[in-house]
Amino acid sequence: MQEIVRKLGLGLLTFLGLAQWSMMASAQNADATKLYNSSLAATCANCHGTNGKGVPEGGMPLINGYTSAQLLESLKAYKSGAREGTIMPQLAKGYTDEQLQIIANQLGKKQ
Ligand code: HEC
Repeated sequence: MQEIVRKLGLGLLTFLGLAQWSMMASAQNADATKLYNSSLAATCANCHGTNGKGVPEGGMPLINGYTSAQLLESLKAYKSGAREGTIMPQLAKGYTDEQLQIIANQLGKKQ
């Protein structure tokens, strides 16, 4: 009897430990995803300013007034060559469609 209680207790502890571990692991994943997403979008800040809020009339288009869908459309047009530019076509080609989606989600205007 005592043996059974001991085994059950160990099983419960193992279960709790694993549950806690998996919760910690998923919290870390969420943090890593957040960091990855914001660092992808941070690339754009060099030219367009933080979160697309650059200097008005500073020579770079501000990109903080677009929705995510509008941004994604522009980025895909640059990537495919449908839209011309000096820098953006080359830059957009360096990202996968999935990365462009993430960037557009990060920088798009949230209503
Ligand atoms: C090296 C500077 C530079 C970087 C970095 C840069 N851009 Fe641009 N961006 C430009 C320039 C210059 C234009 C004007 C079009 C052209 O000549 O390519 C532009 C235009 C745009 C436009 C069109 C704006 C409009 O009003 O139509 C969007 C959208 C845009 N960029 C998004 C981005 C995003 C998103 C990133 C990050 C992945 C980014 N840009 C990174 C320089 C840059």
